[in-house]
Amino acid sequence: MSREKRTMIAELLRSGEVNTDVVVKGWVRTKRGNKNVAFLALNDGSTINNIQIVVDVASFDEELLKRITTGACLCVRGRLVESAGAGQRVEVQAREIELYGTADPETYPLQKKGHTLEFLREIAHLRPRTNTFGAVLRIRHAMAFAIHKYFNDRGFYYLHTPIITASDAEGAGAMFQVTTLDLKNLPRTEDGRVDYAQDFFGRSTNLTVSGQLEGELGALSLGQIYTFGPTFRAENSNTPRHLAEFWMIEPEMAFYELEDDMDLAEDFLKYLIRYALDNCMEDLEFLNKMYDDELIERLRMVVSEDFVRLNYTEGIEILKNSGQKFEFPVDWGCDLQSEHERYLVEKHFKRPVILINYPKDIKAFYMKQNDDGKTVRAMDVLFPKIGEIIGGSEREADYEKLDRRIKELGMSMDTLWWYMDTRRFGSAPHSGFGLGFERLLLFVTGMANIRDVIPFPRTPKNAEF
Ligand code: 4AD
Ligand code: MG
Repeated sequence: MSREKRTMIAELLRSGEVNTDVVVKGWVRTKRGNKNVAFLALNDGSTINNIQIVVDVASFDEELLKRITTGACLCVRGRLVESAGAGQRVEVQAREIELYGTADPETYPLQKKGHTLEFLREIAHLRPRTNTFGAVLRIRHAMAFAIHKYFNDRGFYYLHTPIITASDAEGAGAMFQVTTLDLKNLPRTEDGRVDYAQDFFGRSTNLTVSGQLEGELGALSLGQIYTFGPTFRAENSNTPRHLAEFWMIEPEMAFYELEDDMDLAEDFLKYLIRYALDNCMEDLEFLNKMYDDELIERLRMVVSEDFVRLNYTEGIEILKNSGQKFEFPVDWGCDLQSEHERYLVEKHFKRPVILINYPKDIKAFYMKQNDDGKTVRAMDVLFPKIGEIIGGSEREADYEKLDRRIKELGMSMDTLWWYMDTRRFGSAPHSGFGLGFERLLLFVTGMANIRDVIPFPRTPKNAEF
């Protein structure tokens, strides 16, 4: 019985033929009615919209109907008919109802009333059953699909870079260690240090902070690649924009200079936002109504405006002359905080900004050095509401310069010899960038906290589910 084919609610609402028999399966959102007729709003995740199930109370077992409450899962067989009610084209006149699973009203946490996002984070295993998280997760899927489509259509290859690595791509030092050593009984070397030679990989390893370094190997052989995978950062930053586990998209292109890199980043972001506007409108309208009434307008604005391209040095001048009181003071050489980034984007230019040529001391070792000896060919794409959404650069392709920089920073060559080989053998100008997938989703959904755009957030002191 239960193996018969159901029609998804999205399809029924869109194109279901009236006066045909249908099978729908889903979870009850609400139940209302009187002693003659009951109305069930059923949702199966295929769309934000529910289908209305009309139940003629006299034709059903009273006990069965009593057990159908918010959250229960049903299979309904019946007839698709034109709906008399407002707001829906069709509804289902129930002939048979099979109750797959009940949801005790005393303990099922998702009752009709709107819950706070904070509360929903505590029940992240159930929150996909809400309108909000249904919308966010459908948009998340659509963006992942669009990313692959964008690159595939343009001749990029999807390269799988390792999750476990021995190198620290960003040189930032905030990594999660991976080990099978017994923490209660660590093997020691003669001079008392942990003996990683006895660890699983025979050396110290960690979860990757970025697939870029291996991505560069791909670009310098396949021409243009992208990675799209989980990355991990053990920074103890409890902000609405940081996760300890997040997904990153990192394209890397041979023969691209910084200008080409900027062109790609701008075109890519506009493509993704346009894709959301073209394919996710019902979910966007819901989020626009419930959370951020400027969302859709902001998405349209970004798609239609040219991004500003500006030197870091000029950006600092604008901030210093702004007369604005910032929490963190600005001066040449400082790393920009999101308050600074957002001032440039939201107040000063009123559109996205690509800031380039940052001081070398606040950027990673691999960035191409400018002739001034002070700056590197870095670019950060700054977005309204978000601040930094993309970080990237042209890469230093010159062996000597790169070697000098690595030594200057006191980094170990043991874990980078293979990376240096790309500069020894057939080195080429190349560039790339990293887009934080959840930062993109913050922008596209209008949600304010990054914990609400990933199914199961990983943040300091939280790894539930
Ligand atoms: O600027 P980041 O650190 O750059 C890199 O990792 C380079 N290897 C990218 C490259 O050139 N291939 O990170 C890139 C982006 C940021 O702009 C931000 O959107 C996101 O990743 N990001 C985070 N997102 C969520 N939580 C965090 N803790 C993040 N850290 C960075
Ligand atoms: Mg960055």
